[in-house]
Amino acid sequence: MAKKNKKYDICVVGAGHVGLIAAVGFAKLGHKVICADNDKKKIEQLRRGKPVFYEPELQDLLKKVKGKNNLRFSNSLADAAKRSEVIFIAVGTPPLADGSADLASIESVARTIADNLNSYKLIVGKSTVPVQTGQKIKEVINRYKKNSVPFDIASNPEFLREGKAIYDFFHPDRIVLGVESKRAEKVLRDIYRDIKTKVIVTDIAAAEIIKHASNSFLATKISFVNAVARVCDKAGADIKSVAAAMGLDKRIGKSFLNAGVGFGGFCFPKDVEAFIYIAKRLGYEFDFLKEVRNVNIKQPGYFVEKIKEHLWILKNKKIAVLGLSFKPDTDDMRFSPAISIVNNLVKEGASLTLYDPQGIDEAKKVLKKSTKIKFAKDSYQAAKNCDCLCVLTEWEEFKKINLKKIKSNMNYPLLADGRNIFDKNKVTKLGFSYLGIGR
Ligand code: UDX
Repeated sequence: MAKKNKKYDICVVGAGHVGLIAAVGFAKLGHKVICADNDKKKIEQLRRGKPVFYEPELQDLLKKVKGKNNLRFSNSLADAAKRSEVIFIAVGTPPLADGSADLASIESVARTIADNLNSYKLIVGKSTVPVQTGQKIKEVINRYKKNSVPFDIASNPEFLREGKAIYDFFHPDRIVLGVESKRAEKVLRDIYRDIKTKVIVTDIAAAEIIKHASNSFLATKISFVNAVARVCDKAGADIKSVAAAMGLDKRIGKSFLNAGVGFGGFCFPKDVEAFIYIAKRLGYEFDFLKEVRNVNIKQPGYFVEKIKEHLWILKNKKIAVLGLSFKPDTDDMRFSPAISIVNNLVKEGASLTLYDPQGIDEAKKVLKKSTKIKFAKDSYQAAKNCDCLCVLTEWEEFKKINLKKIKSNMNYPLLADGRNIFDKNKVTKLGFSYLGIGR
């Protein structure tokens, strides 16, 4: 009989935001983990103990688990698969032009596993995938395997947030296990045994839908509050008070009711899109979710219009932008509303000075080179001689900024607060003209 605290040989495929955190997390729980990725540069960097993206606590934890020999990195999925009993698939599923997820990497991983099925394996989907992907993985492995070695498939969706990923890994609200066999359930329960939270066991299809439905619901809350903010702007009401009072109703809850320039990142925009696509493929036109997407797409443009309304002409105006990542505590620029606002402002002919606490290198990669864009070393340098200070990501350091000092260096004191982080009355008293979202 297996020991209660059995430790497993685990392979995590993919060293991105989901895979790397899971690999480090499983290693910390005492399992022997190989994290496999076909990007040689990435693997070399990780072998040197350097994370490939910014995430609080990751560097320290990586060092610790490597020191205990619980985690190693490999370019060879074939080798890693042979050495492991459990394989978590955490490769990217980027969006295709029609909104569907590109599952080519998942298929390729499934084929490599089929080629290397040397003993029983549990293959677990961790990437966000359309419902029925688990079944497809099973079909692919059955089609290409060269022997009759048994295997199981499962779905264990990941709910962690960037910037809080390590905390979320060890303190999830729930662990969802979509399984088809008692054996698979037992292995997964064993793996997570030291994490104290509710474990929900479902079939694989339900587990896959839980992930899409959860992300889409959170995105819905944000678009809903952003739509109400538009009404507040028209009515002269403050969305902050409206959302605070709404949030006190326990049935509504106060989280994800912050109005702003919209949701970004590699999950919400892509997952909402994919859910619309999956529903359609299954025969349901998810019009409701299309509107959630539409509200969000319009939000950055709406903010630029508000700035334009105030400054009238943006051509040759100097605008300082604080915050480029899609949210604080990450350098991730993917689908960041800030990037779309920067591009919009450049199109209008404004001259921009940009600052982000962690994201400047990543921003340089995604922004087109332009004589209209400069980068600053801090908020104060960015704000020098500008006609508008535009805050687009709610980093803690921006909340603590010395506004008096900032204002003394500005050409014209317009504060465009795209995340509603400042106290409108206070900043107005300091002499700023204030623009928020819905206030
Ligand atoms: C999200 C989910 O929260 C997580 O469970 C899932 O695993 C991955 O997707 P993440 O993308 O890291 O996580 O960021 P999250 O903190 O959820 O924020 C997403 C976006 O929504 C950010 O751009 C954020 O600024 C925006 N947001 C969030 C709002 O505009 N208002 C809010 O009230 C909350």
